[in-house]
Amino acid sequence: MKFFIDTAEVDEIRAACELGLVDGVTTNPSLIAKSGRDFREVISEICGLVDGPVSAEVIALDAPGMLAEGRELAKIDDKIVIKVPMTEEGLKATSQFTAEGIRTNVTLIFSPLQALLAAKAGATFVSPFVGRLDDIGHEGMEGVDQIRTIYDNYGFTTEIIVASVRSPMHVLAAAMVGADIATIPFKVMQQLARHPLTDIGIEKFLADHRKSGK
Ligand code: E4P
Repeated sequence: MKFFIDTAEVDEIRAACELGLVDGVTTNPSLIAKSGRDFREVISEICGLVDGPVSAEVIALDAPGMLAEGRELAKIDDKIVIKVPMTEEGLKATSQFTAEGIRTNVTLIFSPLQALLAAKAGATFVSPFVGRLDDIGHEGMEGVDQIRTIYDNYGFTTEIIVASVRSPMHVLAAAMVGADIATIPFKVMQQLARHPLTDIGIEKFLADHRKSGK
């Protein structure tokens, strides 16, 4: 299973890379806005930090606009994956990007059928948003499980990125249903490594070592 980091903060990306946990990066317009930095500049810097796909999202809502933006973004670096929204226009753009050899991440997926359409359009990745579904009382991961089954039934190679991850439990559930990737906020990545019994165990080992005097 691959881990992407879901952030546009370069310090977080650097720190996660040091942990050896970063197989790629996802950004979105909200994360870029939060970083307070220029879009192209920050995306370019991220590409220099990671050895893996870097998703950069288009703003246009029509296919020609998405294609124009995406083609420009793709010139920044070979690592760039164009993130397009799951709309009919997004599907048109995805098919064309695929024909041009530009990788895509179809985002804002909230149903298995949307993921099926994205795969048929040739998407490299799909991003089902589990946290936002959980927020409104649905079981987000059920949809991911269904996407896994559909893709396996028909041999689609589109990779499933579990997105909108809010907790370590989301990462565990993503691994259990066989998602290819989880894109994880840095805070959650840190939580994954920690366990109070590990801390207590270390303290006890050190205390016993000190007592033994050896
Ligand atoms: C993924 O590609 C999205 O950028 C992200 O996971 C959305 O997460 P949120 O629902 O916490 O905004």
